[in-house]
Amino acid sequence: MTIEVGILGATGMVGQQFIALLANHPWFKVTWLGASERSAGKVYSEATSWRLPARLPDDVATRGVDAATPGRAPKLVFSGLDSSVAGEIEGAFAQAGHVIVSNSRNYRMEADVPLLIPEVNADHLALLKQQTRSRAWKGRIVTNPNCAVVVHAMALAPLRRFGLKTTTITTLQAISGAGYPGVASWDILGNVIPYIGGGEEEKVETETRKILGCLRDGGVEPHPIVISAQTTRVGVQNGHTGSISVGFEHPPSADAIVEAWRTFRGRPQELDLPSAPPQPIVYLTEPNRPQPALDADQDRGMRISIGRLRPCPVLDFKFIALGHNTIRGAAGAAILNAELMRAEGLL
Ligand SMILES: NC(=O)c1ccc[n+]([C@@H]2O[C@H](COP(=O)([O-])OP(=O)(O)OC[C@H]3O[C@@H](n4cnc5c(N)ncnc54)[C@H](OP(=O)(O)O)[C@@H]3O)[C@@H](O)[C@H]2O)c1
Repeated sequence: MTIEVGILGATGMVGQQFIALLANHPWFKVTWLGASERSAGKVYSEATSWRLPARLPDDVATRGVDAATPGRAPKLVFSGLDSSVAGEIEGAFAQAGHVIVSNSRNYRMEADVPLLIPEVNADHLALLKQQTRSRAWKGRIVTNPNCAVVVHAMALAPLRRFGLKTTTITTLQAISGAGYPGVASWDILGNVIPYIGGGEEEKVETETRKILGCLRDGGVEPHPIVISAQTTRVGVQNGHTGSISVGFEHPPSADAIVEAWRTFRGRPQELDLPSAPPQPIVYLTEPNRPQPALDADQDRGMRISIGRLRPCPVLDFKFIALGHNTIRGAAGAAILNAELMRAEGLL
């Protein structure tokens, strides 16, 4: 049975990626588009500046854009809203009975809101019981992590068995992570910007611990790992790279780490969800990989690519990890969350 879906923030960078990824989805069909008052009343092709190589589907191009108010949208709504407005708008939709599957930061760290990477913490969907008890919402909100967090948390998740103790990450983040038009070309060409606004480093340090944490007494106990993050913006179109070091309680061999990544699977693979990559983490043995230009799009942008694992003289090991920020780090992540919810009977 086809499930109708809406997209809040449909005209943005993440909104466009939702439209591209949902174009031939076996379960979900886009029937509603919402954005700001600037776009409301226009047809979609006039309201947006389409930036993706995938063709804008005709039925979406000619669809009218609505204001971001509940009423006409279907029950399931994906959100790629700007975080300055997402809190209020997503809350209003949840209150009105919609299931909001959101990319925005506003609800991620709320104690009763699942912050999901389905391969890592599908069990955190149990927080929805608490959400239903504690909020006056007829609907619900589920979130996916920040786009840099997904790369770090996926790389660390299979290594939890070795006792994760400490980690550092320095990111090199793509310009598409700042939306469109994002950073001015004058600022980013031939440059590295050592600051990403909106508390990016704090998000990497807090969201990762929630995702890797355990359910206890109806809430999530964050993982005790100590995290230090530095985030930079670089002149790459798509794909966030992380230069990561990690220290363990029981340092394993390099082979054991690669094997843990190679064999890592989760609930989406078990359930054979439509957007699940067959192998969520791929270790590349070439010394000059992963690279955003070559590896970000692999497996429809849904896999994390890792390479250059070697001993670290400060912590135990260091490596490079990469993920597609608007797919695995945003729209693809939210679609996988909704697929998981449907498969678990939560839609
Ligand atoms: N880009 C990434 O890699 C990435 C990754 C993970 C998470 N995210 C998060 O996803 C969200 C969207 O990011 P983006 O990169 O797609 O941003 P974007 O390109 O700037 O798009 C923002 C969207 O929000 C809408 N919007 C802005 N103000 C609004 C208002 N007052 N009322 C209703 N809608 C409003 C815009 O509509 P108009 O076109 O009508 O202004 C547009 O559709 C953000 O919260 C971001 O932090 C982004």
